[in-house]
Amino acid sequence: MVIAIANHKGGSGKTTTTINLGVALSNLGKKVLIIDLDPQGNLSYSLGIADDVPTIADVFTGDKQLEDVIIKREGLDIVPSNMFLADIELSIQGVKDRLFVLKYLLDKELLKYDYILIDCSPSKSLLTINALVLADKVITTILLDVLSVQGLNQINRTVFDVKRGYNKALTFLGVLPINVDLRSNISKEILTFVDENFDIPILKSYIRSCVKFAEAPSFGESIFSYAPSSTGAEDYQVLAKEIIILNN
Ligand SMILES: Nc1ncnc2c1ncn2[C@@H]1O[C@H](COP(=O)(O)OP(=O)(O)OP(=O)(O)O)[C@@H](O)[C@H]1O
Ligand SMILES: [Mg+2]
Repeated sequence: MVIAIANHKGGSGKTTTTINLGVALSNLGKKVLIIDLDPQGNLSYSLGIADDVPTIADVFTGDKQLEDVIIKREGLDIVPSNMFLADIELSIQGVKDRLFVLKYLLDKELLKYDYILIDCSPSKSLLTINALVLADKVITTILLDVLSVQGLNQINRTVFDVKRGYNKALTFLGVLPINVDLRSNISKEILTFVDENFDIPILKSYIRSCVKFAEAPSFGESIFSYAPSSTGAEDYQVLAKEIIILNN
């Protein structure tokens, strides 16, 4: 199953979720590939991967095969990215099948993994559309604030357009609330608003606010390596179980 982690709103927990859901699924015995599809390269940096290694950008140019750029960390296979991916975005604009490039590149890998998670950039870029054209499911991470509701509107429209035009099977796995403080009224109000106004399921799991998430990337580690007994590790493990049940 290919899951795109996407929201046009920046800083909503996409990268944190791709890494830690990936490790959590791997902890449960699943074979997992995570792909950094953001020229910011935050996912790669957060796992301690240098920014001069071969990346997904070299796969797009045809200089490397996908399997040649994979790096192994914490039980995961990782396809890194760096800022050169932004140039790729420009160069595939003129390609005839520009929305299907990633789908063609990943075709041979699909059967090798139980889960492929794609960390999208916050923009409605050609790369993000490529991820949605390939994906079976979308997880949208949201902080429980008003701007995230606006972001949810935007990703909802993008998914609708991709589904109608290029990938009929695409559906939302759900909204994943991030940085949740259930003592705060605004968190509860926003969740109720999303539930009543969007035709997107809200996952049962949510990720509580946890300072360890901001610290772990400096050590190049997931929350499971950096702070295995934190609420953050606990929450992503619960999420992984929910995803596996939804997938059965
Ligand atoms: N549950 C959480 N509790 C506290 N902080 C969190 C939590 N989840 C993520 N963060 C922090 O929020 C910030 C943004 O997270 P992240 O980089 O995952 O967002 P993003 O959606 O990938 O951002 P971008 O749109 O720039 O790619 C990071 O500093 C991260 O450490
Ligand atoms: Mg990110």
